[in-house]
Amino acid sequence: MTRKQDDSAELPVGSLDVSAAPQSGPTGRPQSVFTEPRTLKGHGPARVISLCNQKGGVGKTTSTINLGAALAEYGRRVLAVDFDPQGALSAGLGVPTHDVTTIYDLLLSRSKIPAEAIQQTNVPGLDVIPANIDLSAAEVHLVNEVAREQILAGVLRKVSADYDVILIDCQPSLGLLTVNALTASHGVLIPLECEFFALRGVALLIETIDKVRDRLNPAIELDGILATMYDSRTLHSREVLERVVDAFGDKVLETVIGRTVKFPDASVAGTPITQFAPEHQAARAYRQLARELIARGAVA
Ligand SMILES: Nc1ncnc2c1ncn2[C@@H]1O[C@H](COP(=O)(O)OP(=O)(O)O)[C@@H](O)[C@H]1O
Ligand SMILES: [Mg+2]
Repeated sequence: MTRKQDDSAELPVGSLDVSAAPQSGPTGRPQSVFTEPRTLKGHGPARVISLCNQKGGVGKTTSTINLGAALAEYGRRVLAVDFDPQGALSAGLGVPTHDVTTIYDLLLSRSKIPAEAIQQTNVPGLDVIPANIDLSAAEVHLVNEVAREQILAGVLRKVSADYDVILIDCQPSLGLLTVNALTASHGVLIPLECEFFALRGVALLIETIDKVRDRLNPAIELDGILATMYDSRTLHSREVLERVVDAFGDKVLETVIGRTVKFPDASVAGTPITQFAPEHQAARAYRQLARELIARGAVA
């Protein structure tokens, strides 16, 4: 088959046309129409969702930023927690990470209150608790704490009433910090890059979630698998997505995030793509993701 000349091919979905007849989306299922969510009358308590995958570079941080921004556009009060010492979430949201109170301080000192660490972003309704390299020392410090897996949960409980959703951007590991994130969470979103080795390691991640459910947090649910960096022009991307759907069925979200260079550009600008290029297919894809998660009940 010759490649279609279609410059919209960069991104396959998120381009949902409400007037179009139902057709199958990239996951092979009929594409649902996720309508504009209802306006919330009040706020909180928050549902906590971890974006988790021990593989780096799969779109955890990008998805936390842009899902958070899209949910905020729909009037949800969102707190994004940077839980990676790299601080990419903080940078991507344009907030300072030095000489400020960070998530590390909240974990280590019970006398600090989250309000000291919470910063507003330039997206109304989206706040962030930043992180910096200090957080890399947290595992060592927390190892000898009582109930060391539950420390983040204790921190977030203090702010839950102020938000509808708290998104935790996990670091690429399955260590104690990630276990803290999972213990604090009602749900997990697993971003998966549509690349060859995408599924490697996912079994171990699911095993970790199962262990956390057994031992620490019986309520935790897998909210969905989010395919990212999908390129509909390559057979490879399509095959990977097909395998992911074979393996996880309905857990694979209908919304698929296409590959586009706009994301790195937006990160450099320290702003979500939903603001940097509001009409770009990628911005629409994250808005669709927000609507899909609301429709599925993962977010109020
Ligand atoms: N859909 C996408 N298309 C193209 N590049 C992307 C996409 N999503 C993320 N990226 C880029 O890929 C890199 C890794 O993404 P990131 O969200 O930081 O992954 P993680 O947090 O899982 O390590 C970043 O440079 C980011 O800008
Ligand atoms: Mg990251």
